[in-house]
Amino acid sequence: MKNINIAIDGPAGAGKSTIAKMVSKKLGFIYVDTGALYRTIALFITENNIPDEDIEKSLPKADVSLRFIDGAQRVFLGDRDVSDVIRTPEISMAASRTSAIPAVRAYLFDTQQSIARSNNVIMDGRDIGTVVLPDADVKIFLTASAEERANRRYKELAEKPDCPSYQEILDDIIKRDYQDMHRETAPLKQAEDAVLVDTTNLDLEGSANEIIRIITEKTGCDK
Ligand code: DC
Repeated sequence: MKNINIAIDGPAGAGKSTIAKMVSKKLGFIYVDTGALYRTIALFITENNIPDEDIEKSLPKADVSLRFIDGAQRVFLGDRDVSDVIRTPEISMAASRTSAIPAVRAYLFDTQQSIARSNNVIMDGRDIGTVVLPDADVKIFLTASAEERANRRYKELAEKPDCPSYQEILDDIIKRDYQDMHRETAPLKQAEDAVLVDTTNLDLEGSANEIIRIITEKTGCDK
């Protein structure tokens, strides 16, 4: 039987990964966070000080892979697990920049498609429904207002030392949205056949339930 593929796209901070994790646990699907792949390429480029003109030819040396340990995704650069070190604001911004490079997108395309071919997946990113899995069984475009996304991020970071201000977080989100939506290759946009879910006024549980409802309606899959 063909595997079920669910695509979830949307801007930074809409809650894609938290919600997709909750939904995949409920359905017994593998959750694939494709942003981690772009972040890992950004880390590779940053750590090795690779100039823009050399990025394309250096990609085969990057050796980026995803492994699923106890059902949870970890991302590797060679043998090194970089799942945690790719989560800094610097790497977020660098990933947004490097993900606009067509050679980077082409390099990561097969990795993403082959995981979806051999597993039931919920895959989140920016171009999953439009480019990577255009035949996905269900496509969701998950969004929330920029102010609400900044607010959530601020609350998450508020306890940590060197927490950026709300305004800095909001400016970062607006800048990343602009970069992700205006690049030439595979920009962030809602696929024509995607269902829009706006989580501005929904909590995590409410958002996950709404997505499970949509998936159940479209696939009959309601484990
Ligand atoms: O989802 P995230 O914030 O971890 O993604 C980091 C960056 O990677 C984001 O700014 C855009 C890019 N990205 C992309 O271009 N395509 C994807 N499928 C996933 C992420």
